[in-house]
Amino acid sequence: MARVDYKCLPDMGKARNRVFSPKTIREEIVVPNEVKDFAKGRKYAIVTFGCQANVRDEEIMGGYLELAGFVKAIDPSEGDIVIINTCAVRENAEEKVYGEIGRYKAKSLSDKNFVLCVCGCMMQEENVAKKIMGSYPYVNIIFGTHNIHKLLDLLGEHLARKKDLVDIMSFQGDIIENLPSTRLDEYKAYVNITYGCDKFCTYCIVPYTRGRERSRAREDIVKECKELVGQGYQEITLLGQNVNSYGKDFKDGTSFATILREVAELGVPRLRFMTSHPWDFSDEMIEVIAKYKNIMPAIHLPVQSGATSMLKRMNRRYSREEYLTLVKKLRDAIPGVALTTDIIVGFPNETEEEFQETLSLAREVKYNAAFTFIYSPRKGTPAAKLVDNVDDVTKHRRFDELLKVIEEGVTYHSSKMIGKDYSVLVDGPSKKDKSMLSGYTETGKLIHFQGPSYLKGSIVRVKVVEDHAFSMKGELLDDPILVLAKKAKAYLDKEEVVIRYKEYKNQVDSSSEIKALRNEIEESQRKMVTLASSGQGDEAAKEKRRYDELMAAYQNNPLVLNLKSASEELENLLLEVEGYFS
Ligand code: 5AD
Ligand code: SF4
Repeated sequence: MARVDYKCLPDMGKARNRVFSPKTIREEIVVPNEVKDFAKGRKYAIVTFGCQANVRDEEIMGGYLELAGFVKAIDPSEGDIVIINTCAVRENAEEKVYGEIGRYKAKSLSDKNFVLCVCGCMMQEENVAKKIMGSYPYVNIIFGTHNIHKLLDLLGEHLARKKDLVDIMSFQGDIIENLPSTRLDEYKAYVNITYGCDKFCTYCIVPYTRGRERSRAREDIVKECKELVGQGYQEITLLGQNVNSYGKDFKDGTSFATILREVAELGVPRLRFMTSHPWDFSDEMIEVIAKYKNIMPAIHLPVQSGATSMLKRMNRRYSREEYLTLVKKLRDAIPGVALTTDIIVGFPNETEEEFQETLSLAREVKYNAAFTFIYSPRKGTPAAKLVDNVDDVTKHRRFDELLKVIEEGVTYHSSKMIGKDYSVLVDGPSKKDKSMLSGYTETGKLIHFQGPSYLKGSIVRVKVVEDHAFSMKGELLDDPILVLAKKAKAYLDKEEVVIRYKEYKNQVDSSSEIKALRNEIEESQRKMVTLASSGQGDEAAKEKRRYDELMAAYQNNPLVLNLKSASEELENLLLEVEGYFS
């Protein structure tokens, strides 16, 4: 009997299909019993390669596994189930995946309960899943980008049937809502707004691995963002392969500007988005970015090449001149905007003139940062069929030259930062030096500075004192205690007991019944004093009884009782906060 059940294998022909009929699926999540039993006391780990879309997929898969009862492993080596979430965009990303799979061989052989899964973009390529199942026979489940919501069902089937499974669909893709999620960061969140890509740049595999460009409903995006704001998230990044295509599929005038505006108005302190295609970057989008101060002035605008002839061969849909016009528009409308980019060198038959145009464009734009790549042929894409006349040595020389020009741009911007102060969202202790904190400016520049670790998640003012080009050294300008106090106040304002206390206090203060009782009590007190001082002991004792009755009525009034218990709760909470400060 075959070890592997190939339920469905990817097909590049089907992946190219752009018939547009995405469904929005809002299934109730049912955890199969086998999975529930298996998850008890077991840990999961997800190892992710690639872009933010994959990171967000990791969070969703984490959500499913935690719902089933798995606990996240601190280190992947401790995982009882490990998912390797792959990237297909370049060949070197794929090589890393094979290395990662190999790491789990010993564990798989020694622990018969261990489950190894591989998923993500690379699995959507033809023949990859078969190759993995052949060369790494300890892999148990392979699935693709379109069925991560079937993770628990696949795991359940694997456990019940004791079979290894491959299930990879190639189609234009659906929109799955009602997704569970863990968030990998406490203060910064990714929110998907579009899935897939229809641009078909000739070098790129993404339109085949992630399906048709499709937008999530506005209500679903706004609901998710609202929840994040309520939970205290400081930064939301709206994600899509081409965020500026958002809403085009609705054909009702909805655009990226619409959703950007709507999310900005929810009041999240920092709003970002990525990635923008230069081709459909509308004037309305620019206006919205310029208008809302919580939309960060940082735009990732992949250019790929500076030569119009090359852009044509790449099917990028804009010319060098159009790109530069867009850059000017952005810089005019959004003062201080940071521009970052992606550039590919060594696309088949790139001429020296074309490469020089890329260099001159990079010099002219002076990017704040850039990701540079050497072209990597992707099977099934149009560019992969081209016969290339450029040798590897030339490609590497061009790559190094480009890096130098990019560095000049980075230094141009970073050197101007010295002595100025910036608002920085603190990520926490720096990865390289735990005695320092690190965080990003509004334009996305990394700054390291000294400060207490409790500043994590706060937005603070930092003065830049040293330029290390790709990161900066700074000095904290804010008093950290005051930052903490403000945070405590914001926290208290949202606390349920504070809200309840304020509401009951308001009810008590505005109740005419209680007002009358208070007046009667005051009057009775005055009477008692007058009677006692004029020697009318019996009358005074009688008045005292009336006073006690009034007081009892007051103290037992339901509104007063509510206020009393809320105030006791609040007192305890404030004492706890006080203890934290002292
Ligand atoms: N080779 C090299 N780089 C690529 N990219 C996409 N496909 C390829 C490829 N085949 C780069 C592009 C894209 C970024 C995410 O990866 O620059 O913007
Ligand atoms: Fe790939 Fe081009 Fe789509 Fe970006 S726009 S994901 S480079 S096809």
